[in-house]
Amino acid sequence: MDQAEKLRNIIKANQTQPKPLARVITVTSGKGGVGKSNTAINLAIEFKKMGKRVIILDADFGLANIEIMFGTVPKHNLSDVIYQGKNIKDVITWGPGEIGFISGGSGIAELSNLSKDYLHYIIRNLAELDTMADVIIVDTGAGIADTVLEFLVASGEILLVTTPEPTSITDAYSLLKSLNGHSRFMAENTQIKVIANKVGTKEEGKNLYEKLSTVVNKYLKLPIEYLGSVPQDVQLSKAVMQQEPVCLANPAAKSAKAYEEIADILVNGPGSETVQKRGMTAFFSYFLTGKKFS
Ligand SMILES: Nc1ncnc2c1ncn2[C@@H]1O[C@H](COP(=O)(O)OP(=O)(O)OP(=O)(O)O)[C@@H](O)[C@H]1O
Ligand SMILES: [Mg+2]
Repeated sequence: MDQAEKLRNIIKANQTQPKPLARVITVTSGKGGVGKSNTAINLAIEFKKMGKRVIILDADFGLANIEIMFGTVPKHNLSDVIYQGKNIKDVITWGPGEIGFISGGSGIAELSNLSKDYLHYIIRNLAELDTMADVIIVDTGAGIADTVLEFLVASGEILLVTTPEPTSITDAYSLLKSLNGHSRFMAENTQIKVIANKVGTKEEGKNLYEKLSTVVNKYLKLPIEYLGSVPQDVQLSKAVMQQEPVCLANPAAKSAKAYEEIADILVNGPGSETVQKRGMTAFFSYFLTGKKFS
C-alpha cells in the first residue's frame, strides 16, 4: 500500500467513524451565591488533571462570574459568533490550568431571535466544540428564569448545588418542581446529581441530600442522586479573593480535596459509562428548538 493510499484509508476511516461527542454537564442551583461557579471551575481543573480537555460555557447573564474567578477578561463572547461571523474557536479564552472558557455574554438570549437557517448555521458552528473538548461545563444563573430552565431541559446531566441553609434547600426543591413541570423535560433522559456545599461535616451534607431527596421522591417522583459534599473552607474564600480557583491555588485545601473526589466519582464512579454524551449540537438544538438536530 503506498503513502497516498494509506492516507486515503485514514481519511475514509475518520469519515465513517462517528465523531466523539463531549459530555455536557450543567451546574445549577435554586438560590444564588451557593457555589455554582466555584463548582464549575474547580471540577474543570480536576477533570483537566485527569487528562480531559475541558471548556466552560458561562451562561450566566448577570455577573460574569467565571471570568472574575479566572482573573482574565475575555476579548470576545458568544454574540461575536452570532453577529461578527466569528468562529467558535476564536471566542474561547484559555485560562489558568489550560481550561477553555466561553463567555455567553448577551449571546445566549439573542440566539432565540434568529431565523431558523441562521440558527442551524450557528448550531453547526457550536458543534465544533465537540471536537475540542471531552467535557463541557455549563455554568448557569440561579433559579427558575426561563433560560435557565431551557438549559436544564437540554442537559443530560445536571449538577444541583445546594447548601444547608433552609432557603437553599427549598429553592432547590422549587427549581426541580419547575423543571419537572416543563413540557419538554424528560426525566428518563436526565441525571440529576446533588452537591452539598459549605457543609460543616460530611454527615450534614448527606442529611441535606436525604431531606431533599425525600420530598422530591414523594411529590415529584423524580430520582436524584448524591454526588458528595464540599466543606465550608476559608481557603476557598481566600482563593476567590485572589481570583484563583482553590484547586490551583491550594490543592491540599479540604475543599480542593472534595472537588477532586467529586470529579473522580463523575469520571470513574458507578454509572459513569452510561452517561449520555449528547454533545454540543444536541444540547443547543434542544435548547433552541426543543427538537433533535438533523
Ligand atoms: N465551600 C465553600 N467554602 C467557603 N466559601 C464558599 C464555598 N463555596 C462558595 N463560597 C463562597 O461563596 C461565594 C459564592 O460562590 P460562587 O460564586 O461559586 O456561587 P454562585 O452560586 O456561582 O453565585 P451566583 O449565583 O452569584 O452565580 C464565593 O465567593 C465564596 O466566597
Ligand atoms: Mg456564579
